[in-house]
Amino acid sequence: MTAITEMVDLERRGNVALLVIDNPPVNALSQGVRQGLVEGLAVANEDPEVEAVVLVCRGRTFIAGADISEFGKPPSPPSLFEAIDGLEAGPKPTIAAIHGTALGGGFEIALACHYRVAVKSARFGFPEVKLGLLPGAGGTQRLPRLVGPQRALEIVTSGNMFGTDEALDTGLIDKIVDGDLTDGAVAFAVEVVSENRPLVKIRDIHDKVEAARGKPEIFAEFRRKIARKSRGFMAPEYNVRCIEAAVNLPFDEGIAKEQELFRELLASDQSAAQRYYFFAERQAAKIPDVPRDTPQIQIESVGIIGAGTMGGGIAMNFANVGLPVTITEMDQAALDRGLAVVRKNYERTAKSGRISPDDVEKRMDLITGTLDYGDLADCDIVIEAVFENMELKKKIFVQIDEICKDGAILATNTSALDVNEIAAVTRRPESVIGLHFFSPANIMRLLEVVRGEKTSDEVIATSMALAKRIGKIAALVGVCRGFVGNRMLYGRGVEANKLILEGAMPWDVDDVLYEFGFPMGPFAMSDLAGLDIGWQKETSTSSTIREVLCEQGRRGQKTGKGFYVYNPETRAKSPDPVVEKLVLEFSEKEGVERREIGEEEILERCLYPMVNEGAKILEEGIAIRSSDIDVVWVNGYGWPVYRGGPMFWADSIGLDKIVARMDEFQQKHGDFWKPATLLRKLADEGKGFASP
Ligand SMILES: NC(=O)c1ccc[n+]([C@@H]2O[C@H](COP(=O)([O-])OP(=O)(O)OC[C@H]3O[C@@H](n4cnc5c(N)ncnc54)[C@H](O)[C@@H]3O)[C@@H](O)[C@H]2O)c1
Repeated sequence: MTAITEMVDLERRGNVALLVIDNPPVNALSQGVRQGLVEGLAVANEDPEVEAVVLVCRGRTFIAGADISEFGKPPSPPSLFEAIDGLEAGPKPTIAAIHGTALGGGFEIALACHYRVAVKSARFGFPEVKLGLLPGAGGTQRLPRLVGPQRALEIVTSGNMFGTDEALDTGLIDKIVDGDLTDGAVAFAVEVVSENRPLVKIRDIHDKVEAARGKPEIFAEFRRKIARKSRGFMAPEYNVRCIEAAVNLPFDEGIAKEQELFRELLASDQSAAQRYYFFAERQAAKIPDVPRDTPQIQIESVGIIGAGTMGGGIAMNFANVGLPVTITEMDQAALDRGLAVVRKNYERTAKSGRISPDDVEKRMDLITGTLDYGDLADCDIVIEAVFENMELKKKIFVQIDEICKDGAILATNTSALDVNEIAAVTRRPESVIGLHFFSPANIMRLLEVVRGEKTSDEVIATSMALAKRIGKIAALVGVCRGFVGNRMLYGRGVEANKLILEGAMPWDVDDVLYEFGFPMGPFAMSDLAGLDIGWQKETSTSSTIREVLCEQGRRGQKTGKGFYVYNPETRAKSPDPVVEKLVLEFSEKEGVERREIGEEEILERCLYPMVNEGAKILEEGIAIRSSDIDVVWVNGYGWPVYRGGPMFWADSIGLDKIVARMDEFQQKHGDFWKPATLLRKLADEGKGFASP
């Protein structure tokens, strides 16, 4: 065995050379790997006894992509292209031996080899689009030559992985290896040599791309198909253009096009934001004062109190991963209703083909309804999801403190109430924590884990790990009204309502935020949630537009009317002259002289209060780091990931610019606009949230 670099060894098995990559944890294509490949291959090529070269990785996976820590730094040679050209253009057959995941640059390396073999469990994909990029080392040109443009479009724009069955069918791999991968790959290499098989270069395979040439409708149709999901993103469109280039241009020109588009994306604000966000999510799992080796509580069973909107959805998360759930309600009717909703949800998923009818039954079997709180006694964690009422929640926590076994986690799904106050009614505040799921709880990926003053490290560590187990992205936050997400949302709502009094219409405000990249603006969102949340007829005094709408029976989408009017068939919303009149009357009643309000002001007035609140949240230590706030907003509230999150976005605008504008607003509109101390300090020092 010869060490070529620290990350690549060259071994010999008879007349087959093995290039062995060892760059834990995922064998990323770091400089040492690229250099090892180029130099190792040269050594193998020069050795007259070597007749074939097998590329194989140590550890848990084949090369799982580029080393993204090298992005943004000056390139250090050799480039990935050099390695790829060497593998493809060399005089001896090259064979990639794949296990784990061949992703991004790793998949491109594999496609440059003349042959590919893989273990059955291997997976493949181009996740670049998720980082605002495209496969920039020939992937977009080679992939469609094997799988055809249609499937290539899906693979590069979704970023999703696929398995060996498809890979074998489409010729992406030549063989599935049973048993030891290296042995199997060497045997395959010997076969290639002894049968004198050709050096297959994917670049020279043209039938599938040529068949699509002169058929622009393929791309038009595909663009239509992904339009909604990819709205606002650059990278999906750029990936499509690359596949188009593969179809319409000779290989080398296609590569040049791919390079040009890759460079443009790499330099774009969007990709910078998406790459930042990628790290932000990983960072959120790290808690400075809760060490990684903190002992965890074994969670094998879950109790849930309340089978309403949230309780049912929360239960599904656990049943989905095979954890038994006991769920309680006030009475049989409420319990039956709640369980019926859960079943309906599962059946809908089964209908769409994402789970089998058998899965529906298996998951329902894991959820047991009961009216007896005593049945929660042995649960390892109990999550309360009853009405948002402090007295009720306290009563329930006294009860479960009595009933639940020692060491069980007692969690509340409150959206805004004081977790410390709830914990204080128990004899074990160290076991109490907030687990703030978002609606619909079985779908939304965010979980705000709310740490009380006395919550123990074990309970925090267990909750973070449990979140991961059920596929959530958790952000640890402290206790304050509304925690991170809802607290920041509040200020946006206040300003949105002021804007419509001062001169904008609800749809003007919504349009600006939609264009910014949110799935919908605040008024459409209120209509969706129901305008009557927290509203009561008896105490309603027509003091806000929302109150008046509710009084008129306009409760939002569910009544077909709210801030908008909804088409009963398509549910499409349109501005309503009735609301326009109401808004005008309201301004008059309040003595506000309406004026034209530009889009820029709408955006600033809606988003700067969020940035300011985010600064206060950091100041108070409610969030550990600014990137956690971004994780909350991207995952829980539809902040467009290509703008990184509110704090990243604020940095990209410039905190000094934001503070200057807030000073102006403070003059005009009062102290709501006073910049937080931290915000002003960072702005004065010319810093950002990410670089304090
Ligand atoms: N709906 C949301 O979007 C959302 C999002 C995050 C958090 N939350 C929070 O989740 C909690 C539940 O909200 P929801 O929207 O599911 O409300 P919901 O009204 O849909 O459900 C509450 C359920 O609790 C039941 N319940 C009331 N008292 C009970 C008791 N003593 N024992 C057992 N069950 C009892 C009710 O019968 C009802 O089915 C609230 O604290 C809310 O603030 C809601």
